[in-house]
Amino acid sequence: MDIEQLLAQRARLVDGEMPNLLMDIKPPELAAAVSYAILSKGKRIRPALVTLASEAVGGTAEKACFAAASIELIHSSSLVLDDVIDKSEKRRGRSTVHTLWGTDMALLTVQILAALSLRIAARDPRLIHAIADSLFYMGEGEAMELVEFAKDKKGYLDLAFRKTGSLFSSAAEVGALVGGGDKTQIKKLKEFGNHIGLAFQIRDDILDCISKEDDLGKPVKKDLFMGRPSIVLLDAINSGISIERMMKCNNGELMHLVSESIENAKNVAIEEIDIAKCQIESFDDSYAKTKLNEMGDYIITRSK
Ligand code: IPE
Ligand code: IPE
Ligand code: MG
Ligand code: MG
Repeated sequence: MDIEQLLAQRARLVDGEMPNLLMDIKPPELAAAVSYAILSKGKRIRPALVTLASEAVGGTAEKACFAAASIELIHSSSLVLDDVIDKSEKRRGRSTVHTLWGTDMALLTVQILAALSLRIAARDPRLIHAIADSLFYMGEGEAMELVEFAKDKKGYLDLAFRKTGSLFSSAAEVGALVGGGDKTQIKKLKEFGNHIGLAFQIRDDILDCISKEDDLGKPVKKDLFMGRPSIVLLDAINSGISIERMMKCNNGELMHLVSESIENAKNVAIEEIDIAKCQIESFDDSYAKTKLNEMGDYIITRSK
């Protein structure tokens, strides 16, 4: 089974947890917005990470499903909020929640999705800590982007940890927790998640420069036009290419202009995946370990 088939298989397991959640949300407008956010499916990579982390320490995917659903709900909540902040009109190939229901209803959707996540996580109170941590860091990361443009690689990685690495880290952590991992295994999987999350954000920055909106399912060149710190743009600016010059480019031209920075970003993503893989090197060989390593390779080559 290749990694995309595995993501689909794990998505089905997690989706089984979702319908019950949608009962009893009032008023119907809020219920509609929440179910729209839940049912418009993304890659479901974080739930796959939760289930694999659980299996890698001797647990099962099935018993980790509630934790995976909880993480995916926090992720969905962060996307609805991010689209409000980034004024994005498209997500997962569809109109964003705020363009359909307005900003107020979108913010309330964020709150309900987070509440649903916590309700599920409360089945195992240890998960609440992990989720609180990533909620906190993601809030910081989104705010940092608004007030400063990262100056160097270190500043960028700090931001990318908060925005994205932290939730991947929590995903791997909750998987390891429900799978019955020991302290060392949990710590190592947290680090694994953090580093693949950094690589994931770097790939997101690259795709923002090289993709077409229809392929990606969300707007492109957003980082450039919103002034968001992307590792590609940061490297291009530091190599003397002005933002004004980049802004004059169409998609193909931009890719050409910053091609060296894209290569540099790819190399940083490879470094992060290597660091991630080292974390779990000492784990017993297993199907899950192999798939976690493959997930790392997929993250830096994905086109969506
Ligand atoms: C998008 O995450 C937000 C980032 C952290 C870059 P995904 O690319 O995992 O989004 P979906 O869930 O597949 O839509
Ligand atoms: C991703 O934000 C991080 C979170 C949603 C917390 P971005 O703004 O970089 O991601 P996309 O490109 O909109 O998915
Ligand atoms: Mg965005
Ligand atoms: Mg954003």
